[in-house]
Amino acid sequence: SVVNVILSGGVGSRLWPLSRKSKPKQYIPLFEGRSLFELTVARNQTFTDQTLMVGGIKNVDLAREFLPATKSQTIVEAAPRNTAAAIAFAALACDPDDILIVTPSDHLIENQEAYENIMREGIKYAEEGFLVTFGIQPTRPETGYGYIEYQGNDVLSFREKPNEDTAKEFLKKGNFLWNSGIFCFKASIYLEELFRFEPKVFRTSKEVYESANGGQFSADLSAKIPSKSIDYAVMERSERIKVIPSNFIWSDMGSYDSLYDYLKVKGHQVDGSGNMVIGTQKYVSFLGVENTILVHTEDAILVVHKRSSQDVKHLYEELENHN
Ligand code: GDD
Ligand code: MG
Repeated sequence: SVVNVILSGGVGSRLWPLSRKSKPKQYIPLFEGRSLFELTVARNQTFTDQTLMVGGIKNVDLAREFLPATKSQTIVEAAPRNTAAAIAFAALACDPDDILIVTPSDHLIENQEAYENIMREGIKYAEEGFLVTFGIQPTRPETGYGYIEYQGNDVLSFREKPNEDTAKEFLKKGNFLWNSGIFCFKASIYLEELFRFEPKVFRTSKEVYESANGGQFSADLSAKIPSKSIDYAVMERSERIKVIPSNFIWSDMGSYDSLYDYLKVKGHQVDGSGNMVIGTQKYVSFLGVENTILVHTEDAILVVHKRSSQDVKHLYEELENHN
């Protein structure tokens, strides 16, 4: 069967103070009253048979109400050990021939019909034994994404998080796509490739999974899993990768600049200088500043220029260290 594996780890610190440890960004109903997690579940329902969420206990508790009532399962990690391990747990929980559609839980995707068609194309390649990636036409030299050098559906190389000069070069060359972060493969093929390239991640993940006590993973054993993402662990090295160039509308709702762009398109008010208020009905004036976002929550206010959106992460880290 086809299984939607939803990964949900992390705090989403670049969306502080909307996103908190107690309620990470993917559970906030910011998108026409729905959360990114909810939308992720819904988007994959039509072409999958089961939903399998992998995350820490806090995430699993927050997610539970949004998971389908039947044909859904959860895997609770003792500690976040990154995506290579999280996906290994999912693959071990499935039948070897099951097709996994691995999706992050913090992306916004529009154009459902295009999405479904592309996923169905991906499933065909996965059935033939390929690891399938979904490529997005890049629009800027973003350094936070993976890049796929491609020709048709063939992948010439996969390059995770290049530096800015390299990213610019990729854009100039033109035959590179962003890695959307969605993957599709047979459970057995992923495990084979993980074993081949990262035997220690494979072995320790398997040990944790198989020694689970009533579904509970050992924290001590989990700590021994090397923290590697699937991108570095497998995608950069495997020779069994295909890409489906994808035309659905994709955004990684990682930071305020992308949230701002989304809200603006949806008609959220912006003043004459491009300033935006999120989270309060109070009257707010901006004078002498432009493209600034004011975020109001019960116990914190953030004022951030759109261009400084990425730095909210550092602010969050500082606050963490002081508390
Ligand atoms: N369960 C679980 N456990 N989930 C995790 C863990 C973990 O230890 N670590 C990360 N995740 C989840 C995140 O919550 C997110 O949904 C997804 O896995 C991807 O992790 P990110 O940390 O967001 O990865 P990234 O954004 O740096 O990079 C990935 O996504 C980009 C597109 O947004 C890569 O795949 C890039 O190549 C890609 O371009
Ligand atoms: Mg991400």
